[in-house]
Amino acid sequence: MDDYDRRHFIRTSIPGFLGLSMALPAITAFATKANAFQGRVPENGAINWDAFLTAVEKEAKVQHLDQWNELNYIKKASAIAARLNLQDPLLEKAFAAVKKSGVGNGRIDFTPLEKQIDYHVTLVQFEKNEEIAHHDHPEMTGVLLCATGDVEVWNYDLLGEKADKEHVLLKQTSHANLLKGKVSTLTSKERNIHRLLAKDFTQLVDIFAPPYDKKRIRDSNWFDVDPDGFKGNDEIYLAKKR
Ligand SMILES: [Fe+2]
Repeated sequence: MDDYDRRHFIRTSIPGFLGLSMALPAITAFATKANAFQGRVPENGAINWDAFLTAVEKEAKVQHLDQWNELNYIKKASAIAARLNLQDPLLEKAFAAVKKSGVGNGRIDFTPLEKQIDYHVTLVQFEKNEEIAHHDHPEMTGVLLCATGDVEVWNYDLLGEKADKEHVLLKQTSHANLLKGKVSTLTSKERNIHRLLAKDFTQLVDIFAPPYDKKRIRDSNWFDVDPDGFKGNDEIYLAKKR
């Protein structure tokens, strides 16, 4: 079984989600295009969905090794994300299907696009003014690619925890609008806490490595953040775990 056939069996998240049949001729053509990542397109050219997953997988799988360098991974993963061809037909179908099913439902939609042991890719969809409140990502990294829309993103570092284990001090490290084709990142130590507020209909392609599992979901924290800076400081905020 060659590599493409192997991937065919492993990577069925989007096609499965869309209810598409994966006929072999289509797969072969798809896989041939995927090979573009190995040199048939310019270094900074757009890569299709399968090539994107191949590249992310390569970077994410070394997280178990001693020499795992999170910052290096984030740098490479964001460069890969920035190259993803958002017009890939498979992705466009997924974007359209999630939009059709999610618009008007009054909540943010989380749709798995790919689930592997080392990483998950999730489509996160917001309608205008929908918000994800301040939360952290325990021992995780995240790369958020804006596929469409405009979302305001605040990032924070955890400065310290009070003795009561409930109150924390956060340092706001960035505040920017994430627009189509742009990437926002977080590591286990830096920018790990964020808040997102959609200014328009928005779809994000999020890569989490390692992915959420039961423990990481249990260890996650949501925060109520004092809107006024701590002791008049406009970078430091007092927050309480929910
Ligand atoms: Fe998040």
